[in-house]
Amino acid sequence: MTQHPRVVSNVPALRRAIDALRRGRATVALVPTMGALHKGHLALVRQARRRAKRVVVSIFVNPTQFAPNEDFGSYPRDLKQDLTALAEANVDLVWAPNVKTMYPDGFATRIVPEGPAKAGLEDAFRPHFFGGVATVVTKLLVQCSPDIAIFGEKDYQQLKVISRIATDLDLPVKIVGAPIVRETNGLAMSSRNAYLSEAQREVAASLHRVLKDCARRIAGKEHIARVLDECSADIESVGFTLDYLEARHADSLAKVESIKDGPIRLLVAARLGATRLIDNVAV
Ligand code: PAJ
Repeated sequence: MTQHPRVVSNVPALRRAIDALRRGRATVALVPTMGALHKGHLALVRQARRRAKRVVVSIFVNPTQFAPNEDFGSYPRDLKQDLTALAEANVDLVWAPNVKTMYPDGFATRIVPEGPAKAGLEDAFRPHFFGGVATVVTKLLVQCSPDIAIFGEKDYQQLKVISRIATDLDLPVKIVGAPIVRETNGLAMSSRNAYLSEAQREVAASLHRVLKDCARRIAGKEHIARVLDECSADIESVGFTLDYLEARHADSLAKVESIKDGPIRLLVAARLGATRLIDNVAV
């Protein structure tokens, strides 16, 4: 049986463990997660393994990025299973603080990101979200002081927000994006897919099919606004309620009107029953 990686849950123990990992000038990569790990997370861990000598994974379901009506209470949590997966992935250290450790009584500081965090995508539907993500990720980066930190393109706007923060605050870390890992039917892997029924999973897969079709048509120089309208209708026709389907500049997330304004990224968020899914593809 593979031994579980070491788990630390308070800041002094984390600092000592990171100092030990760094001995001999070893480089450290951090993979921040909220647990309920799936193959998407584990691909980030593999990428971390390739890029640094030591790998730290954080597991923290961050309350400040959930609105009161969202799923913080019911978000899937299974530390034991996560640790088994991380042992197999050869992770050196797991940082698993509790809410009081991250946000002790009297906690009163927030990072308020702008720029990509105000692009009118996720922020328009989850206005609390990036403030919570920015604050927790900044804390995780300061706590773990990694040389590199890996984030998935699955949360494309989040990746842009975090890159911006690292640049703006001169954080001594390289932020690396990793490609989206999908089920064989195309559905982007997500901890929240656990909420979907078997039938819903099949419907959910059509989100990626439509996105790919949309990207192909835009790459073929069809009129962007018209393609987006038709693809939005396709998404709603299979039973989704669409939050947005947008074509944006892949770096700045600015709106684009023509293929010449590119490189373009298509981003979508849609609800299937009570489950909200996001996805994106390059054009
Ligand atoms: P979580 O949803 O657990 O995701 C952790 C990391 O895994 C994120 O960088 C996310 O983009 C990446 N990821 C999730 N599904 C993926 C997939 N199918 N393919 C590739 N990467 C995938 O994102 C968060 O947690 C939180 O907001 C966090 C950054 C940890 C801050 O609390």
